[in-house]
Amino acid sequence: MAGSFTVVDVKTAPIDGQKTGTSGLRKKVAEFKKPNYLANWVQSLFSSIDGLKGSSIALGGDGRYWNKDAVRIICRIAAANGVSKVLVGQNGILCTPALSAIVRRRELLGGIILTASHNPGGPNADFGIKYNVSNGGPAPESVTDKILSNTKTISTYGMACVDGDNTEADPFGSVDLAAVGATKFTSADGAAFTIDVVDSAADYVELLQSMFDFAALKALFARSDFSFLFDAMSGVTGPYAQRIFVELLGGPAECVMRGEPLEDFGGAHPDPNLTYAADLVASLDPKKSPDAPAMGAASDGDGDRNMILGRGFFVTPSDSLAVIAAKAKAAIPFFKDGLTGVARSMPTASAVDHVATKLGISCFETPTGWKFFGNLLDAGKAQICGEESFGTGAFHVREKDGIFAVLCWLAVLAHENAGTKDGDLISIESIVTDHWKVYGRNFFSRYDYEEVDSEAGAKLMATVTKVQEDMVAAADGSGSMTLGDFPVKVTTADNFSYTDPIDGSVAKGQGLRFVFEDHSRLVFRLSGTGSSGATIRLYAEQYETDEAKQGVDAQVALKPLIDLALKISNLTEITGRSSPTVIT
Ligand code: G6P
Ligand code: ZN
Repeated sequence: MAGSFTVVDVKTAPIDGQKTGTSGLRKKVAEFKKPNYLANWVQSLFSSIDGLKGSSIALGGDGRYWNKDAVRIICRIAAANGVSKVLVGQNGILCTPALSAIVRRRELLGGIILTASHNPGGPNADFGIKYNVSNGGPAPESVTDKILSNTKTISTYGMACVDGDNTEADPFGSVDLAAVGATKFTSADGAAFTIDVVDSAADYVELLQSMFDFAALKALFARSDFSFLFDAMSGVTGPYAQRIFVELLGGPAECVMRGEPLEDFGGAHPDPNLTYAADLVASLDPKKSPDAPAMGAASDGDGDRNMILGRGFFVTPSDSLAVIAAKAKAAIPFFKDGLTGVARSMPTASAVDHVATKLGISCFETPTGWKFFGNLLDAGKAQICGEESFGTGAFHVREKDGIFAVLCWLAVLAHENAGTKDGDLISIESIVTDHWKVYGRNFFSRYDYEEVDSEAGAKLMATVTKVQEDMVAAADGSGSMTLGDFPVKVTTADNFSYTDPIDGSVAKGQGLRFVFEDHSRLVFRLSGTGSSGATIRLYAEQYETDEAKQGVDAQVALKPLIDLALKISNLTEITGRSSPTVIT
């Protein structure tokens, strides 16, 4: 099939508030649907990219409400800007790591992801758009800054139209997004444009198949003492999970729950944590479900986050990263040559640091935000990265990858159980507690105070900064400081700053941290992803090497530190909140 189109320059004017955050531009659907809103941003993006003419880009999203409409609009603007081919995921769907995989594997100029990640979807909820560059990772600030400045000066955008008299109709409207295949079009002045609808899973699944020993994983699924439950949270991963866990690994159809992608995620928060995946957590609890499976997992709306559960056991993201790093070489073919380094974001508990020390490899501490791992991965300085915010990933793509993390845990289980008899499965809980015996346990918890008044958020940070300044001023010169009447001394009290070891760029003001002599830590940060007001995050970590004390509940172990944090920050008085909105 073929067709023709005419490029029309549509008049527009700048729209305020189109700043691309860490994870793209995220707004309510109603905002995106306003006249020119999406078109202004997309044109500003295209005007910021070198080499656009004649290029190929990928396009897809998490299937949330308005995904397909946005795909249609973006194709028209891409054609008008001289893009020669847009590879669109079937039905407009691509999970975030799959888009990254396609961009890398097919050496595309970049890709556009339509997602607001784990934020709710639907006509009254959120929509989002983000651009990834040719390494498959989120655009660096040099690009997003250009986009922002273009949004402030834009006066026209290009739109492919049927002809100059018919600018409403979509000249590519005949393309069936449900049917895989390419459709070519030619513009009035002879330029070619192709919409290539591609299988949403093929490239990504093939990549994962090349990284893991699927036969060993299939053997694990075949054991009678192993069962598995994956919660796709009505997000984009349902069909991918069906392909991998059911069709390739032989799991029963019921091993994927909430597997049908819904435009509004069933009205739920598609965020894999103990609060929003409560049904999965209950299914894994042997007290509530006598037939609780051996392993549970969940992923978020766009498939980049993950949560790992054993039977009646929660694996913190920080522990998950540490265990995967410790076992990677032996358990996962993709890492058979070993690791040269690992990386974690600053607030993430330092469990992986102990693994790195033992392996004699580098460990990088970066600011919050997956983009900070990009240079380390590109330069081969780190191979596995993770964040406390349920993000785990590696150098196969440049996004965090939920299903990859699940496969890592399946591989660890398969490896640890290679010699056990059916019926004697070594559990996830015992793998993690054995890990603590060797490396120590890093108790970790995060308290979120969401949608706090912005001024109160700023006041809290100012209060804690003052506490730090006073401590540093009162230090006796030995470098050892006192925080209130807390018995353990503080070695570092600062606002975290990061100098990228590859390009030398500096990120300042990344979180107020207190590091104690016993390696415990308290961190205060304002979230960079909230959509209204300020979200205060308080992170507490305590390191415990005494095996006899490692089995305590994290909230119990961390209570003295959290009480201290609340006291020194005056949080309750400043915010008016007596308890956090979410605890992870
Ligand atoms: C997104 C980013 C992560 C980040 C998380 C929390 O998922 O991709 O890199 O850790 O948000 O960020 P925040 O600034 O809200 O703590
Ligand atoms: Zn996400």
